Amino acid sequence: MSTMAVATSTRHLLGLRDMPHERLLHLLASAEALLPVVNGSSPPLDNLAGRVIANVFLENSTRTRCSFSMAAQRLGAGTIDLLGGTSSSSKGEGLLDTAANIAAMGADAIVLRCSASGGAAMVAEQLDLPVINAGDGQHEHPTQGLLDALAIVRHRGTIDLSGMHLAIVGDVATSRVARSAVYALTALGCDVTLMGPEPLAPDTMACLLDGLDTAGRGTLGVGRDLDAALPGLDAIMMLRIQFERHGGSGVPGDYQATWGLTEARAARLPDHAVVLHPGPVNRDLELDTVVCDGPRSLVLNQVQGGVAVRMAALLDCLAVG
Ligand code: CP
Repeated sequence: MSTMAVATSTRHLLGLRDMPHERLLHLLASAEALLPVVNGSSPPLDNLAGRVIANVFLENSTRTRCSFSMAAQRLGAGTIDLLGGTSSSSKGEGLLDTAANIAAMGADAIVLRCSASGGAAMVAEQLDLPVINAGDGQHEHPTQGLLDALAIVRHRGTIDLSGMHLAIVGDVATSRVARSAVYALTALGCDVTLMGPEPLAPDTMACLLDGLDTAGRGTLGVGRDLDAALPGLDAIMMLRIQFERHGGSGVPGDYQATWGLTEARAARLPDHAVVLHPGPVNRDLELDTVVCDGPRSLVLNQVQGGVAVRMAALLDCLAVG
């Protein structure tokens, strides 16, 4: 079966690395304005009434898939869900054919999670409907980066993160979450240090911002001494160890003791510092339960903001924002 090769000016959301600053600011402002709809203090909207959003999740998900569904429904849209394990991808159907068939049914947008880095862009090049990247391999997870930024902006009460220092700790190398967070947060002025054992956070990760405009952008570095860094941090994002990607290769046997955010380590953060994690959390491995559920934690705040971010993304891509 051939796919449609259509040159298009369709508006997608594929990544944050090359996102114009004005669009980043618009999405964050739009998401913040939509929060009352998410928390129930404002009624649902009908901006997308009659539209159908296709959630095509060829990798597993809890937060991203459910919050895109919630976002679509809060905007009056219908949704369909295609999950990898129960779809014909299990019979060998390729990503482009899967997406083309969903498009042929008349979906108004595709929200796509896939294991191929660059998979969302590949689909967007071929199909004449908006594609929103919900995580593609080790490339990007743009709505996660936006919700991470929104959580920090809400906490600090300003969009200008100049002078702020965030550490992203753990399984950085394979993390699309880390990449999108770096692009979004440095664009807002935040200085970011990637930390972890060398195999999980190689020195080469310091090159992520190469080729990007540095004007107003925060810095990016790679560090190894987490205990020394703690007192100077305004925020710390712990990453999930992605055993499904590397089988634990490069993960020290004493990971919790050497790199985990234990209660003792969290006590060495400044009083104002906050803790983030994209989820799902390996409790008492990268993040101690008492810290994850404690007063510094923005973890569920991130999740709540994620619905607003996805509402903003749908409105933006469907040109009704
Ligand atoms: N943070 C995140 O992407 O979680 P899910 O894999 O559950 O969607």
